[in-house]
Amino acid sequence: MPIRRRPGWDLPAHTLSPEAAVLDRRRVLATTAIGAGAIAAGALGLRAAFGQGRDPIGWWEAQVGNDPTRDLYPAARVETYTLDRPLTDTRETITYNNFYEFGSHKGIWQAAQRLPTRPWTVTIDGMVATPRTIDVDALIRRFPLQERTYRFRCVEAWAMAVPWVGFPLADLVRWVEPLGGARYLVFETFQDATVAPGFRQSWYPWPYRDGLTIDEAMNELSLMVTGVYGKPLPPQMGSPVRVITPWKYGFKQPKSIVRISFTDRRPVSFWETLQAREYGFWANVNPEVPHPRWSQATERMLGTGERRPTLIWNGYGEYVAQLYDGLKGERLFA
Ligand code: MTE
Repeated sequence: MPIRRRPGWDLPAHTLSPEAAVLDRRRVLATTAIGAGAIAAGALGLRAAFGQGRDPIGWWEAQVGNDPTRDLYPAARVETYTLDRPLTDTRETITYNNFYEFGSHKGIWQAAQRLPTRPWTVTIDGMVATPRTIDVDALIRRFPLQERTYRFRCVEAWAMAVPWVGFPLADLVRWVEPLGGARYLVFETFQDATVAPGFRQSWYPWPYRDGLTIDEAMNELSLMVTGVYGKPLPPQMGSPVRVITPWKYGFKQPKSIVRISFTDRRPVSFWETLQAREYGFWANVNPEVPHPRWSQATERMLGTGERRPTLIWNGYGEYVAQLYDGLKGERLFA
């Protein structure tokens, strides 16, 4: 999701042939990933994955073989959340990503293999009864996993339909017992410049972070996601744990979370810090509220390229619209 403040050397995407750019980047990324192997020897399954060449599915399967929670997959699907479109092809979903820690383009899947996803802890702090740091495997085993098929919408107007695996965020909120005055949750992503080159881009306000109100977090749609397509998440999709709120634009949904803080103050997100006029706090999907650079009237499905009309609240209004009844003066949609 490019921002307006672009350093001089960073050519706008339209000046490159997209395919040439991606192929070239993949060559660079492949070299980088191999060179980094020694550093990231602790990355889950990385050594095994080297044998899989450049096939993203092969890399992923090798990692799943070493994942300490692999016995929890596949999880039973909750049929309540049905789709109006086919699921997006797995390969498309896992190779077209936004993960700025690994680069400001979509082809980061190989670079992201350097992320050491174990050992991994999640700190839950701020306005809660008992602040704690928990091993991610204990966290994942604490709540029963389930599969849900959701639409996913990026503010850049691409979209996908994905079978996520995870547990309700509401379960976690209840478990940690927020204090009376707490109103927001803030999710924070890992920050380690030895594994992710994006941290050297010092104009970004690292670490990646974003927040929700506690009411939004308690909504039945909000999921702590640990897997996708019946397997633990691959690194490029936010392993070992990310948040999914399907009625909001994708940038509101941080990946590879290390901290969840409860607070009484509305947080300012990564993107809002960079460009508050373009990326507001609420960021709910609305076809009639364009982003300065992307009309939101339609969306392009990954894989098929099909154009579909955008749905208000991404089609989840019956679950979430009432959350905003008392907030008419707020900029709810961009
Ligand atoms: N989380 C982190 N840590 N870093 C990111 O750059 N990008 C966001 C979101 N979460 C991002 C992130 C954006 S802009 C989108 S659209 C989605 O992740 C993309 O998720 P996906 O690549 O798994 O499809």
